[in-house]
Amino acid sequence: MIQIQRDAHRDQGNEKLRLENTPQIATKENRLFVVLPDDVDWRSPVARAGWLWYTGGAAQLRKAEGSIMIRVHDGLIEMHTQNTSYILATGQGGLAENLHYGAKMRVHGAGEALRAKVAVGFGGDVLRPGDTVSPGAMRLELSPTQRGDFREGALLAKLPHGGFSADFTYKTATHGQGPAPGGGMPQGRGAGETLCLSFAGTGGLEVELFYSLFYDTDVIAKKMRLTNRGGEAIELRRCFSTQLDLPGCDYTLTTLNGAWGRECMPEKRALAPGVAAFGSTSGHSGNRCNPFFMLARGEACETAGEVYGFNLVYSGSHRGSVEVDGFGRTRVMQGLSDEAFSWTLNPGESFITPEAVLSFSAEGYRGLSHNMHRFVRRHILPPRWATAPRPVLVNNWEGTYFNFTEGKLLRMARVAARLGVELFVLDDGWFGARNSENAGLGDYNVNRKKLPGGLASLARSVNALGMDFGLWFEPEMVNEDSDLYRAHPDWAIRTPGLSPAKGRKQYALDLCRPEVREYIIRSVGGVLDSANIRYVKWDMNRDISDGYSPALHNQGEFGHRRVLGLYEVLDNICGAHEDILFEGCASGGNRFDLGMLYYMPQVWLSDDSDAHMRQKIQTGASFGYPQCVMGCHVSAVPNHQTLRNTPLDTRFNTAAFGLLGYELDMTALTAAQKGDIKAQIAFYKKHRRLLQQGDFYRLESPFDSAHGACRWMVAAPSRDAALVGDFEGLLWPNSTRPNMRLPGLNPDALYDIAVRAQKIDLDAFGGLINYVLPVHLNPDGMLVKTAAKVYRLDGEAESYQAYGSQLAAAGLARLQEFTGAGGYSPQLRFLTDFASRLYVLRRIGEKRAR
Ligand code: GLA
Repeated sequence: MIQIQRDAHRDQGNEKLRLENTPQIATKENRLFVVLPDDVDWRSPVARAGWLWYTGGAAQLRKAEGSIMIRVHDGLIEMHTQNTSYILATGQGGLAENLHYGAKMRVHGAGEALRAKVAVGFGGDVLRPGDTVSPGAMRLELSPTQRGDFREGALLAKLPHGGFSADFTYKTATHGQGPAPGGGMPQGRGAGETLCLSFAGTGGLEVELFYSLFYDTDVIAKKMRLTNRGGEAIELRRCFSTQLDLPGCDYTLTTLNGAWGRECMPEKRALAPGVAAFGSTSGHSGNRCNPFFMLARGEACETAGEVYGFNLVYSGSHRGSVEVDGFGRTRVMQGLSDEAFSWTLNPGESFITPEAVLSFSAEGYRGLSHNMHRFVRRHILPPRWATAPRPVLVNNWEGTYFNFTEGKLLRMARVAARLGVELFVLDDGWFGARNSENAGLGDYNVNRKKLPGGLASLARSVNALGMDFGLWFEPEMVNEDSDLYRAHPDWAIRTPGLSPAKGRKQYALDLCRPEVREYIIRSVGGVLDSANIRYVKWDMNRDISDGYSPALHNQGEFGHRRVLGLYEVLDNICGAHEDILFEGCASGGNRFDLGMLYYMPQVWLSDDSDAHMRQKIQTGASFGYPQCVMGCHVSAVPNHQTLRNTPLDTRFNTAAFGLLGYELDMTALTAAQKGDIKAQIAFYKKHRRLLQQGDFYRLESPFDSAHGACRWMVAAPSRDAALVGDFEGLLWPNSTRPNMRLPGLNPDALYDIAVRAQKIDLDAFGGLINYVLPVHLNPDGMLVKTAAKVYRLDGEAESYQAYGSQLAAAGLARLQEFTGAGGYSPQLRFLTDFASRLYVLRRIGEKRAR
């Protein structure tokens, strides 16, 4: 009998798990003790059933003997996660038919009640010899090509005779513990069990479909392996990672679209007959369309209803599509972009697709997001960093751009250290002739004019201030004006006969060439070993054009081979420096995906640090990604991307719902601003675990609110603490506000609720200042300006006590806002455009039984 006991010192236990990277399982008197991460409920049936094991720091679910995740019987394949079921039937026409993907269920017998009933077929059916039902009338996991299913299919291959028509006939279903084959690409870590369906294909093309189950997060990951069992080459034209046919077409599709500076904008559309296709052709996952998307059934909303989520563990060009056919059924596919794709599969060779991630929740968009967040935290991020507290950083980019000296950096660092910053990051411009965008990329030798002492000495000085030192690189790129380009012009990607296009005045390096990969590994590795560098910002600032590599025979392989080359480089560099914290960046979120997050536990989400815009970007990203992967900085105003002025507190309150950093010239701050920032950082450190790892709730979306207001909450898995961010958009004067309802708390717990203390700037009042002061002052005069620098009014103090059930059912009534008409009172909240507040909730007791 296996028992699981909650560790008495959970925090200590988790820390140990992270450091030693070993399973936290101990047996004592025939009892098994397992340390659970904070976000796993130790009372859950899963834990009680004795399923929870650990490998390499990632939670993994297994049963001691047998399996209740995957069952194969009576021509039926059942896959079950904690709350979902994925049911397939095999046999009919040699096909694998999808009977159900969605809410968890128990299947009776061979699933007769679920199977489609087609007695005489449909008008217009195309039947293969032996078919009683046309493939076009079935919900299929893999379609034969040009054999009766005329929807787009996941696989398209040109066979040795030059034709495309093909059958793929089901052979076997096998399953076992552990992952699917990786194929040199990242994939979910710690899969509980994996199913493999194999099919014999026309022309010797063997197909295997893999389904890896991540029981605890309700995620099923899918991929396809193709093997040429014939004697002649086969050309793959399209091979997606998943094909899923859903019943009906009453779904709303949400994709995350955008551009530089406004990534992850959720775009909703109702499905209509035909194909809705989306994705990227720019060589990386891209800011135009993130690989994450959702389908919500019927009236599903944030808090209720059935929602499916899809993502891809991949960083290159990708394609998603949703097709509604003439019978009103929906086919969902996702995988590598088939734009300019062609892959030569020689006899005996295999091709593995990237891994697609599928999840389902019956609890609305919120439930789906929680599944995805748990999956990313437990099964994607490097275990070393998954739950490690991330440091508060300062980055010099918007403070200096290329124009800095060692003296300037150290002056900034000294202020930062005094305010509580833990990591000083030196951004672009420290190497070669990199004094502008025009030159230097590729030459990672330190610029001694700017940094006469070199990196090691700068790192020592920063360390002496009590901070870690971090550094920026853009290793996949080269400027024409660089020593690297002069020595190896052919390393830049170009197509014969075309003069290559530039992006941000630079070329991309050809990662299909082994010598280029070796150069990057050597040059970046050399710098990392030359100084005490604890953090790397790995940037990538242009889209890929002119795709071609002299290293390849088939140029249709260029896009994917370049990404495989990148993963080889990252395996080497990140693998050899596991203790360095890597942050991905691509002009902000131009490569914000599960593939990069597998190597780098955080990503600079957007170059746009305007707090109002960031609330939108972070809300959009939160549908698929947890806050512990989002780099979020407080920057100067007017904002450098939007020229908007937002209050310093709002910039902090917004960035606090991610990984906090400051990106401004700290030497230019007033004494009052320094005081504010010091208090912000202390607050963030105090609540860091909650802010970085807590369960995230979208309470009010800036996309749905008429005035652009936004409200978020994070709650500790124990529900002992929570934090609410309440953000104004444009102020709506003289309004009554509804109570702030807070879901997800422990209904029986009593909470203490207090607003984070903020100050009010005197100059926020303009001419109104004369109504509260006994003397008359010129609001634009020196006196007010000088006084405003050193003296501010205390903001309102609000504190309450309430039960969780009360906050969920009726919410919290807050103080009235300043309205102009009624004048000044300390019982008012002074809200301006883009003002915000943070409310801290702390559990202080339990409801007494009556
Ligand atoms: C990109 C990044 C910025 C900064 C600059 C430096 O734009 O997104 O954060 O690092 O490059 O050139």
